[in-house]
Amino acid sequence: MRMRNRDVISIRDFTKNDIEYVLDKSAQMEREAAQKRDLLRGYVLSTLFYEPSTRTRLSFEAAMSRLGGKVISVAEAKVSSVAKGETLADTVKTVEQYSDVIVMRHPSEGAARLAADTVDIPVINAGDGANQHPTQTMLDLYTIRKACGRIDGLTIALMGDLKYGRTVHSLATALTHFDVKLAFITPPELQMPADVKRHLDDVGIPYREIAEVEEAGKVDVLYVTRIQAERFPDPAEYEKVRGIYKITPETLETLGGARIMHPLPRVDEISPEVDGSDHAIYFQQTRNGIPVRMTLLSLVLGVWE
Ligand code: NCD
Repeated sequence: MRMRNRDVISIRDFTKNDIEYVLDKSAQMEREAAQKRDLLRGYVLSTLFYEPSTRTRLSFEAAMSRLGGKVISVAEAKVSSVAKGETLADTVKTVEQYSDVIVMRHPSEGAARLAADTVDIPVINAGDGANQHPTQTMLDLYTIRKACGRIDGLTIALMGDLKYGRTVHSLATALTHFDVKLAFITPPELQMPADVKRHLDDVGIPYREIAEVEEAGKVDVLYVTRIQAERFPDPAEYEKVRGIYKITPETLETLGGARIMHPLPRVDEISPEVDGSDHAIYFQQTRNGIPVRMTLLSLVLGVWE
């Protein structure tokens, strides 16, 4: 029961073995989902989302439902007792009395860790501010492995808001376990944080920092992200970089057959004309959230190994 009762807070808490174990189990889950319809019968998941979400919350809910479990959720933190001044610690202690596992998204970095330290049931971080989004990374790696057949040996470009985007912080950190070459495509204002780059340097993962997608050359995967408007302290700074990138069918030609990924939601950084291309795999990526989250829930609840 190697993951029973484990919290999923930062991808840094997972070894390469742990990550590969989750990916292998997710592939098995995808194949065997039909036989696992009752695996989580009798279990209750609470979702606590203090920031907007479509995919992450719905895919956790769908994952729980597909395994026979139930979901309770605070629709909007504004209508919960948080609005009356309740602390996060008291809220999660309360939710612990009603459920077996908590999935939480919060604007403050470290909020998920605080929740995990407060309760005994497993807590899964569905995004804490600009910090981490570990389950997105698991589904991103699952998608890369499925589409490219492997992760080792690939050249992967991350593009867009690498400063505030939590998905790229988690993903770049996870990729330190693999033999990859990275390219970071950002305007100077939105570069990958120094601590993530230091980690890559320590492990010896080569990365290039460039400003234009056309400079990337041939890459295997282009991971596009949204500029995180809500995280800019100064709206004037956001205006300077708004709409700076746009992937079009013409861009695809310069990238030598790269698979295009995006955690979604997109704003305008990938033209809808790209959606029909065989190289656009962002909706498959979204779908992969289901087997990966079914797996994570089953593992941390200790009903599968
Ligand atoms: C991302 C997030 O919330 O960090 N969305 C997601 O979970 N798929 C990306 C984003 O909001 O840009």
